[in-house]
Amino acid sequence: MPLVNTKKMFEKAIDGGFAIGAFNVNNMEIIQGIMEAVASEKAPVILQISKGAREYANIRYLKALIDTAVAEYPDIPIAVHCDHGDTVDLCKECVSDGYTSVMIDGSHHSFDENVRLTKAVAEFSHAQDPYVSVEAELGQLGGIEEDVVGADDYEENIEKYLTDPEQAAEFWKASKCDSLAVAIGTSHGAFKFKKEPKLAFNRIEQIMKTCPGLPLVMHGSSSVPKEFVDKVNTFAVIDNSKPELIAAFAKAGVNWEQMPKSMGVPEDQISKACQQYAVCKVNIDTDIRLGLTASILEVWANDNIKVFEWLKAGGKGTQPAFNFDPRKYLGPARKAVKEMVARKLHVLGAAGKAGLCS
Ligand code: G3H
Ligand code: 13P
Ligand code: ZN
Repeated sequence: MPLVNTKKMFEKAIDGGFAIGAFNVNNMEIIQGIMEAVASEKAPVILQISKGAREYANIRYLKALIDTAVAEYPDIPIAVHCDHGDTVDLCKECVSDGYTSVMIDGSHHSFDENVRLTKAVAEFSHAQDPYVSVEAELGQLGGIEEDVVGADDYEENIEKYLTDPEQAAEFWKASKCDSLAVAIGTSHGAFKFKKEPKLAFNRIEQIMKTCPGLPLVMHGSSSVPKEFVDKVNTFAVIDNSKPELIAAFAKAGVNWEQMPKSMGVPEDQISKACQQYAVCKVNIDTDIRLGLTASILEVWANDNIKVFEWLKAGGKGTQPAFNFDPRKYLGPARKAVKEMVARKLHVLGAAGKAGLCS
């Protein structure tokens, strides 16, 4: 099946009480890991490309990989989406490159400017044949996204950053967006919350009342699972040639950890948002990065441990090899992406829904 826009996916997701996973892609292993997961779980998928990913990988390489995924998995509905497009021109470029959905993120501008930008993208995208879907954003999320840093007091004073339901209705009517990313207590990146967050379900309910039928999008929806942060910290490479560095950390009372502890959005709250509310697209990037990075660190750490054990035993015979063949660590990393995405598809209730959305 050719690439699809998000129209039917969202209709089915709202009716069926599930959400479509929108996963950020940056390279071949991430795309392959996601596709293996959605194929084995029979789930529809949105592959989303940030401005940074577009520049890092060169969009022509990414598009060639996605075209290959379409050919390899003809039964899986796949949408290609521009994540956090920041200008009308960028969104237009993405449409010309064959994306089937674009996000224009005017949330850091004034309300009027946000409407103006979104309307311009919607007019252009909706005039395409086939129709290109448009996501907009209203309200402020915490954390870091692209180069934009969320407010310092986000966690303490979250109410003031949440999407205003009346404004959402006015915005939807004026901009003609197809879906709206709303601020309902989520946050971008790996360092989201110091204490367990609670999604603002009452606010989602109010938005659903003022905007009946509008598909809602949840950005910043990684859960930062503790076991993966622990894994990164366990296998993180400490420069053993600089024990003074570790001693200095210890003296200052700082535990040596690559990743400070932080809480993400609990998975049971995400499931509730998908099942009981109009949340039909859930954006996940950080958890994929965590799974992938933890896996690579584990492979390297295990290699180092083998060499260390060999040295401790007197260094006799052949030294255990250190893996510098990228396939030896990117292969397991791809599997880690697959496992993380499969886990998320169950959280979103998207497993088994591919047929429904085709
Ligand atoms: O919300 C932003 C996404 O996680 C993309 O991140 O701009 O580093 O690719 P990126
Ligand atoms: P996370 O950083 O929580 O994975 O959110 C990703 C996102 O919102 C991409 O747009
Ligand atoms: Zn986002």
